[in-house]
Formats: sequence, C-alpha cells, structure tokens
Amino acid sequence: MQLAEVREGLEGVVVANSSMSWIDGENGVLIYQGYNIHDLAEKSTFEEVIFLLWNGRLPTQAEFDDYFKRLSDERQLNDQEWDFVRRYANSQVHPMAFLRTAVSFLAHSDPDVEDNSHEANVRKGFRLTGKMAVMVAAFDRIRNGKEPLQAKPEWNHAKNFLWMLKGREPDELEARAMDVALILHADHGFNASTFAARVTAATLSDLHSAITSAVGTLKGPLHGGANTRVMQMLLEIGEVERAEQWVLDALARKERIMGFGHRVYRTMDPRAVHLRELSKKLCERIGETKWYEMSEKIFEVVHREKGLWPNVDFFSASTYYAMGIPLDLYTPIFAMSRVVGWVGHCLEQYAHNRLIRPRANYVGPKGLQYVPIDQRT
Ligand code: ACO
Repeated sequence: MQLAEVREGLEGVVVANSSMSWIDGENGVLIYQGYNIHDLAEKSTFEEVIFLLWNGRLPTQAEFDDYFKRLSDERQLNDQEWDFVRRYANSQVHPMAFLRTAVSFLAHSDPDVEDNSHEANVRKGFRLTGKMAVMVAAFDRIRNGKEPLQAKPEWNHAKNFLWMLKGREPDELEARAMDVALILHADHGFNASTFAARVTAATLSDLHSAITSAVGTLKGPLHGGANTRVMQMLLEIGEVERAEQWVLDALARKERIMGFGHRVYRTMDPRAVHLRELSKKLCERIGETKWYEMSEKIFEVVHREKGLWPNVDFFSASTYYAMGIPLDLYTPIFAMSRVVGWVGHCLEQYAHNRLIRPRANYVGPKGLQYVPIDQRT
C-alpha cells in the first residue's frame, strides 16, 4: 500500500517553521531574518550577519563589539589541533574532506561538546566559525611549505582569512569582496546541507555532529561543490571565443553546466547579482577580464538554450580566482560562511525539536521464503 504521493527530492515539502531566511524563487528575493540580502550585501558585515542569524535582530554597537571579540578570540588552535592540520595538509586529502574530518575532530577538545543548551551551542558556534577559517588557511599554507600565520584581533573575519591564507594585508576591495561573499553564503533556507544538519540535530545529537553532516553534504557537486567545477570549466574553455561552442557541445551531450539551475529560484539568484559585480571588478583589477567575459558568454548561451539562470556558485568562481584563491578552497570557503546558518538552524531545531523521520514508499518484494544458504542454487 502506498502511504502517500512520493515527492522525489522532497520538492515543495515543508518540514518546519523557521525565521532564519526566506526565498521567493519566482521574484529572486532572499531575506535573512527579515532583511533583504541586497541591503546586507551593500551595508552589513559578516560579524553583524552572525548576530542577526543567531538572535533574529540586528545588534547594538555594544553587542556587535562583543560578537566581534568573541569570534576573534576563537581564531586559534590548540596543540592537538595544529598536529591534526599538519598531518593532513601534507597528505593528498582534499581540503573539503579535511574540513569535514576537522569539524568532527574539533569536538574532542571542545569543553561544551555534550552540552546542548542554547548558550553552549552559541559558544560552540563561535569556536567552529573561528577555527574553521584558521584551519582552511593553515591547510593551504602548510601544503605549500609555508608557516601558518596568527590572526590579528583588530581585523574582521574576512580580512583575517585572506591574511592567514596569503600572508599579506588584503587591500580594501579584496577584503570587502570576501566579507560580501561570506555574507551572501551564510544562510539559504532548507538547502541540502542545512537539512542534513537539522536531521542530525533532531536526534538530539551534538552540534559538532550536525555540522559534520552538513559539511559532508555541502561537498557534493550538485550543492557547494559546484563552485570549484565552474572554475575548472572556465579554465578548460580557456578563451571567450570558445565558450559558446563548448556549452553547446556539453548540452548536446546532455551534461549539466555547473553553476546554473536551482531548486527554488526561477530567475536570477539575488546573490549572483553581487558576485557578478565583484567578478567584473576583481578580474579588471588583475587585468584578466576574460574570466568575467567568459562567464557572461556562458550565462547568455545557457539562458538562451535552456532558460536556466546562474546560482550563487557561478560568479563566485571567477571572483575567487581573481583573488588568487586555489580552486579546491572554494567549497571550504562556502562552508566557513554557511556554518553560521547551520548553527542558527540547529539552535532553532533544538528549541522546538521533533525527530525528523520520513517514510519511503516500499517497492521491493514481500513474503519471500527464507532458504538456508546450503540449499540455495
Ligand atoms: N545544466 C543543464 N541542465 C540542467 C541544469 C544545469 N545546470 N540544471 C538543471 N537542468 C535541467 C535538468 O537536466 C532537468 O532537465 P530534464 O527535465 O530535461 O531532465 C531540469 O533542468 C530539472 O533539473 P533537476 O535536476 O530535476 O532540478 P533540481 O531542482 O533537482 O536540481 C540543481 C537543482 C541540482 C541545482 C540543478 O540545477 C543542477 O544540477 N545544477 C548544476 C549544479 C549546481 O550548480 N549546483 C549548485 C546549486 S546552488 C547551491 O547548492 C549552493
């Protein structure tokens, strides 16, 4: 007996009330806790967005300063955590696989690990947000034979990440571009990785377990893993003049073009609007406008041929490339930001918890007779 209509991919299924963020897919609107993403991208900072997502309102100056300091205090690792980074940075492990294990490893030294109170989970949220950025930057420096760098308490998260990665003070445009990228990626409704985090939290498992589930889910090419693949595509195409034919050939082979399409948006992803501008500015800054121009050409062809729109991953690829960020760090950077949304969603889940446990429509056989192994042919 079929229980109900199967909704493949849970499309259109509503599983919880949430005030974290809301998407109007028809009109390309995204809001975080009531505030339009365009206002936040233009006027806010990542630190302020953390407060907004975890508290449901914008901070006063004193509250902002407190959050800034609390995050800054967590941008450091203990000896075991440094050993862990050094061990894996010198292996062939992909940085996203490293980060998934790193989040789980961070639980071992977290003094609040099994405390599921709201206050303890906020403390863990700061630790995870601060340490993930340090670990991603250190991983890259160590694998390139460089020493990791200490964060600077007076700088914000975005500027510190670029400093810890590159070892030079980022200029204003780069630092702001990274801050905007962190703001734009911080939350996005019940996306796959957020849902994974909430499913884990709903068993009343600990926050580190929930975030580990989320990082593993973000890693896939249909979700956060698409940004690296967009850049691989641009590099493979190589020249703007080749873009149209390359896309037409890929579509003829029924391949997906990475960075296009979305389960909810039926128009331009509002986050892509900002990343498109950043891509243009940053590509111009390094005198390599072809990555931006190629992206525009691909957009034109994919939209014309398939009616699809770019998602957040499309223009972030050329933006990060123009900032000199290694391709395999694009998805870890996504995770460094989305961790804030995952934590906020887990806070909501713990506050109004019910086990998340859907059913499947069973399509296998029934009533088979068990035959002992020595009698099977
Ligand atoms: N390129 C070519 N065709 C596409 C693309 C694409 N990027 N996206 C969707 N389509 C086509 C599908 O082939 C399908 O066509 P069909 O009905 O003829 O078979 C149709 O559009 C619907 O696709 P679904 O996979 O059913 O749509 P769904 O909502 O399940 O998938 C998804 C959304 C996974 C994002 C999809 O658009 C995709 O694979 N995009 C490429 C990967 C990507 O960019 N992922 C990042 C998403 S944003 C984020 O997670 C941060």
